[in-house]
Amino acid sequence: MADLTALTGQALEQIAACGDLAALEEVRVHWLGKKGALTEQLKALGGLSAAERPAAGARINEAKVQVQAAIEARRTALAHASIEAQLAAGRIDVTLPGRGEEHGGLHPVTEARLRIETLFRRAGFDVAAGPEIEDDFHNFGALNIPPNHPARAMHDTFYFADGRLLRTHTSPVQIRALQERGAPLAVIAPGRVYRCDSDMTHSPMFHQLEGLVVGENVSFASMKAALHGFLKSFFERDVAIRLRPSYFPFTEPSAEVDMSCVFCGGKGCRTCKHSGWLEVSGCGMVHPNVLKASGVDPEAFTGYAFGAGIDRLAMLYYGVNDLRLFFENDLRFLRQFRTFSA
Ligand code: DAH
Repeated sequence: MADLTALTGQALEQIAACGDLAALEEVRVHWLGKKGALTEQLKALGGLSAAERPAAGARINEAKVQVQAAIEARRTALAHASIEAQLAAGRIDVTLPGRGEEHGGLHPVTEARLRIETLFRRAGFDVAAGPEIEDDFHNFGALNIPPNHPARAMHDTFYFADGRLLRTHTSPVQIRALQERGAPLAVIAPGRVYRCDSDMTHSPMFHQLEGLVVGENVSFASMKAALHGFLKSFFERDVAIRLRPSYFPFTEPSAEVDMSCVFCGGKGCRTCKHSGWLEVSGCGMVHPNVLKASGVDPEAFTGYAFGAGIDRLAMLYYGVNDLRLFFENDLRFLRQFRTFSA
């Protein structure tokens, strides 16, 4: 029989030296596993005489129990040390108050655009889009604004060195939609537009809503009905509208759309400059030159178009008096519009 005291001492030394649970498991298998050093001792009992066997067996079991206990103690110590290390690394102050969860929300201008899209889709319109970097043809030429036309000066255009530009309005999408889809069609095109202009009511980037309906018998009256219906739905009340003669190169005849003031109901207040009316859109019958430039026969088709400012519609809807608030992205402002969809 081997010297059990020496074996036990060796086992205890190894156990104490284990730095982690994996090493400890290896040591356990080495001593107590099926073929472990102490297990082998038990197997060797068969070689002893019947008289020697009980005492030898008892000593081996004693050694096993001792090694087993040392392993358990070491296991507990290692697990404890590992938790301590994790806690020290984490340094979480559990006494701090919880921060809770912040819910995000859509920007009010996005919210307004989505509502506009829903309303027009319901009325049978498609939603079209075009590039924000445009060429001269789509932004001006095809819209009946030839070079040197005075309307160009009013657009405060941002140009690129190669002659392309940041679209100054969403009207170029009229051309692209007609070129791509042909007539008849009914589309709106909401999107970003750019002009070199900035004050209380102007931002170098803002959002427009373009509308275009082209068909065989599209009339000025149907345009008025569509705009009136849209404004009533968007503002969720029975607003009145009036059309004032105006001029746009791409429509003939052209008009400005006024809506009864949503703040005073038409009585007159600061927002409507005491007129009772708010200007909300430009519109008109699509000029034959625009149809021609887009490959549509002006003898066979007529159409109407309109263009409105989405930011302005959102300002009127939410009662915001400074356009710039929409673009500063101050969370204290934006949080007031947060809606929860879930
Ligand atoms: N494109 C014009 C602008 O930005 C707005 C506009 C007016 C669009 C009349 C139209 C329209 O389609 O018919 O000032």
